[in-house]
Amino acid sequence: MAIAKETLTLHFEERGTGIPLLLIHGFPFSGKMWIGQLDKLSASARVVALDLPGFGDSPAGEGRASVDQYAEDCFAVLDALDIMEPAVIAGLSMGGYIALAAARMVPLRIRGLVLASTRAGADSAEGKTSRDKTIAQVKEAGASVVADSMYPKLLSPHSYNDKPAVAEELKEIMRGATPEGVIAALTAMRDRPDATEELVNLHMPVLIIHGKDDQIIPSLEAEVMAKAIPNNDLRLIDKAGHLPNLEQPEEFDRIVEKFLVKLA
Ligand code: MLT
Repeated sequence: MAIAKETLTLHFEERGTGIPLLLIHGFPFSGKMWIGQLDKLSASARVVALDLPGFGDSPAGEGRASVDQYAEDCFAVLDALDIMEPAVIAGLSMGGYIALAAARMVPLRIRGLVLASTRAGADSAEGKTSRDKTIAQVKEAGASVVADSMYPKLLSPHSYNDKPAVAEELKEIMRGATPEGVIAALTAMRDRPDATEELVNLHMPVLIIHGKDDQIIPSLEAEVMAKAIPNNDLRLIDKAGHLPNLEQPEEFDRIVEKFLVKLA
């Protein structure tokens, strides 16, 4: 399904009924990374997975480059589906940055937050410089530069060895990223505000999930968030890297399902 928002079209998949659960993908992926969750979690929730502009089946917008704008896109999808009751918002990595922006912007629309493989802090000066370098490389050589450099760090060693199908699926998902979408997302991540000080103001229940073998965002970041957020549950997953929903889907889904039951 797709909605047209001003000049922007957003594609999303929706499945199931019950408590609304919006899934926000990481970078440089798409809503397709949630295919297993759309399947499994739709037994107990109304699951919606969108493609952010320039990823998956959503065309790139023009000049859209901030986590707040992405959060607005997420709310626009909820509006289009007439989901006016507070929803559970789940974001992985960049999706988590966007979920935190959404919670700062309109907390009353959020019943619970799932922060997976993410962090609250902003990019360091070094991190910003590295984003700029990557933007230049993408302009020169295309979006595959990002996929190629991230691929070796995305999964746990266990997944690379024992789950070749997951590794292949991931490569396929990353092929759906456009240079425009990738550049906008890199810009948005580079400029995102530090959300650390706001963690204490998150009054909704928060589920924090992190792979113990995450090489992109170390699990220490999840522990930092857990120390600050008043009402949270921290789950570290064995034999999972940056994509625990793909690497250990049964455990990931079981944890999220339990969280949804408590919120329903
Ligand atoms: C992601 O997986 O969304 C990104 O790697 C996050 C980031 O680059 O900060």
